[in-house]
Amino acid sequence: MSDQPAQQIKKPFLYVVVCAAGIAGDVGRLITAAQDANWEVGVVATPQGLGFLDAPAVEEQTGYPIRSAWRLPGDPRPLPPADAIAVAPATFNTINKWAAGISDTLALGILCEAHGFGIPTAVLPYLNSAQAAHPAYARSLEQLREMGVLIGSYEPHQPKAGGGADRFRWEAALELLTPKVPLAG
Ligand SMILES: Cc1cc2nc3c(=O)[nH]c(=O)nc-3n(C[C@H](O)[C@H](O)[C@H](O)COP(=O)(O)O)c2cc1C
Repeated sequence: MSDQPAQQIKKPFLYVVVCAAGIAGDVGRLITAAQDANWEVGVVATPQGLGFLDAPAVEEQTGYPIRSAWRLPGDPRPLPPADAIAVAPATFNTINKWAAGISDTLALGILCEAHGFGIPTAVLPYLNSAQAAHPAYARSLEQLREMGVLIGSYEPHQPKAGGGADRFRWEAALELLTPKVPLAG
């Protein structure tokens, strides 16, 4: 029998980017599914998205602070580097800004750089059909697809009809990302 200590297997680290959509408060479902599938998870919220979350509950569940603002120069990095990123839920606003290369929130800064770093990224849009009808939206999805971003298949809900939470599949993010991450699965 070897007297070497058992090698620690590194778990893949998933960033869940949470935007300000009505369903964001249920992100614990994705965190649980990811942890059950052997991921470590850290949450990055847009500044608007923060208000849609139960921050203490999310931090308790992940064991990491939620990131939303840039750190100061010299401050330590609060999260390990990402092996993969799930943007869930993704708003109309963040999808269009990300595709256009706008980086005015920490979440967008991380997403815009993820392409250059080659970090596998999946986006689960959650928006209504009036938002989706804007011509910028189809163009943004096409741009993200060209960048290699994996896109969930949520069919936009009717405006002012209470949303489509029952049809939103959080676990789709893991189904899209797992084949792309050697440490996962
Ligand atoms: C209660 C409420 C629910 C919202 N739900 C959505 C939504 O499901 N999808 C969406 O794209 N925007 C939604 N919005 C609008 C976004 O919050 C708004 O566009 C915001 O600027 C998005 O910020 P972010 O992309 O930085 O998270 C909602 C706003 C409110 C007040």
